Amino acid sequence: MVSRVIPVNPFDLVLFGATGDLAQRKILPGLYHRFEVGQMPEDACIIGSARSDMDSDAFREQIRASMAEFAPEFKKDVLDRFLSRVSYVPVDASGDAGWSDLAKALRPDVVRAFYLSVGPSLFSGIAHRLNEHGLATPDSRIVVEKPFGHDLASAKALNEGLRACFEEHQIYRIDHYLGKETVQNLMALRFANSLFEPLWNSTHIDHVQITVAETVSVEGRGAYYDQSGAMRDMIQNHLVQLLCLTAMEPPSKFAPNAVRDEKVKVIEALEPVEQKDIARGQYRAEHGQGGYVDHVGNPGSRTESFIALKVHLGNWRWAGVPFYLRTGKRLRARESEIAVFFRDPPHTIFPNVGPLHGNVLVIRLQPDEGITLRTTIKDPGPGGFRLSDVALDMSFADALGVEASAPDAYERLIMDVIRGDQTLFMRGDEAEAAWAWVDPIIQGWEDRGDRPARYDQGSSGPEEALMLMHRDGRRWRQIGG
Ligand code: BG6
Repeated sequence: MVSRVIPVNPFDLVLFGATGDLAQRKILPGLYHRFEVGQMPEDACIIGSARSDMDSDAFREQIRASMAEFAPEFKKDVLDRFLSRVSYVPVDASGDAGWSDLAKALRPDVVRAFYLSVGPSLFSGIAHRLNEHGLATPDSRIVVEKPFGHDLASAKALNEGLRACFEEHQIYRIDHYLGKETVQNLMALRFANSLFEPLWNSTHIDHVQITVAETVSVEGRGAYYDQSGAMRDMIQNHLVQLLCLTAMEPPSKFAPNAVRDEKVKVIEALEPVEQKDIARGQYRAEHGQGGYVDHVGNPGSRTESFIALKVHLGNWRWAGVPFYLRTGKRLRARESEIAVFFRDPPHTIFPNVGPLHGNVLVIRLQPDEGITLRTTIKDPGPGGFRLSDVALDMSFADALGVEASAPDAYERLIMDVIRGDQTLFMRGDEAEAAWAWVDPIIQGWEDRGDRPARYDQGSSGPEEALMLMHRDGRRWRQIGG
C-alpha cells in the first residue's frame, strides 16, 4: 500500500547554497523524486543560486553528476524533464550582485519559497536582501537549515534577523528528523489508536530510552562539529524533538500551532540535568584508524562525539519517569529508536517462573522502520507452564510495501513548505526553549573543564554511559542487537 500522491501547487523555489553538499546530496535529489512521482508539477521552477559564476547548463550538469552519485536509480528521461525546470542565477549572498537577475527569474502568481541551504551567519543578510530587492512577498516562505544557533543568544539573534523581514508563519526551520516517516508515525501510533494513550504515563511507564547511534564520523565537517559536539549537533534538536513527540499531551488537532504549543510545553518542563546524569565520550584512535581528535584536526579537543543523559520532565504525566537519551558517532551500528519500557506486572500467578518482565514498545526510526512490542507468552508445548518473551514485530516495509519507507525526510518537508504546512517545522520559541535547557548543561562541563571519556570505535560508547543506567538498576538496549 503506497500513499496517494497529490500534486502541490506550481511554485518557484530559490535554492541558496545550490552548489553545496546538502543541496546536491539531499535537496535536489529529493525534488527530483517528488517530480518523478508527480507531486512536483511540471510547471514548477527551481532556481539554483550561489556565488559561483556559472550558467544554467553548467548547473544542470552538476546536478546530473550528483544524481549519479546520490540517487543513481533515476530515470534518464524524467531527469531530463526535471532539469528543464531548473535554472541558475549567480548571487552574492552578502553583497548586492545578482539580486535583480534573481528577481527577474521569479513569476508573480505562483508559490514562492526561498531555501537557505547556507550557514546561519548568512540567514539575516539573505532575508534582508530578499526584502530590500522586492523578492519577498507577504506569502513567500523562507526555509532555514540547522544549526539554528550555537546557544540561546545566537538563536535569538537569528530569530530577530528573520523576523525583521518575515512573519513567523513564513519561516520554516528544518529539523529533518521530523520529516522521517516513523517519527510522524509516532504521532499516529499515540493519537490514532486508543490502546496506548491510557497507559502513556508514570503509572504504567517505567522509563524511556531514545537512541540515535551512528557508524559514521564527522565526515568532512570537522570544523563545524568540533565547535558543536553531540549535545548541540543532535540532542538540542533531533533528540529533543523525539522526546517532545513521545512525551507531549495530545494536541487538540494536527495543526501547526496546536502541535508546536504542546512540544514547547514539554521542552519547558525539562528539568536541569545533574552532572552525575551525563556521560560524554570521544572515540579513540585504534588499529591504524584515526580517532576523533584526528578527524577534527584538534589534538586537544574536549568536544564529545558521544553523549548519554538522564532527563526528567517536571509535569504531572511524567513525574519520576526517566528519559535516557543517547547519541554518538562511530558506534556499533546505525540505529535510531525510541523504546518505551512499561512497568513490570505487579504480581505473578504463574508458579516457578520468577518475576515477569514489563512490555517494551520499540519504535524503530532507522533502519528497517517499524514497531515492535515485546510481550510475554506461554512457551508452546505440553511440558509444564513456562513463559518466554517474544516480539510482536511490524516492519513498515513488509506491512505496507517497500515503497512505504522510501521517501527521504527532505522530500516530505519541502512539499510541506510548498503546501504552507508548518506542523513539522520548529517554531522560533521552540528552538529558543531547547537552547535555554541545553546552555547551562554545556556551561556546567565547560566551567569544570571536563574531558570526555574515551570509547572504542564500533562500541556502544564509553563505560560511563553503561554506569549511568546500571546505577538505576536498568540496562540500555543493545545497539545493533
Ligand atoms: C545531522 C547532524 O543533523 O543529522 C549529523 O548534523 C548527523 O551529524 C545527521 O550525522 C544524522 O541524520 P540521519 O538522518 O542520517 O540520522
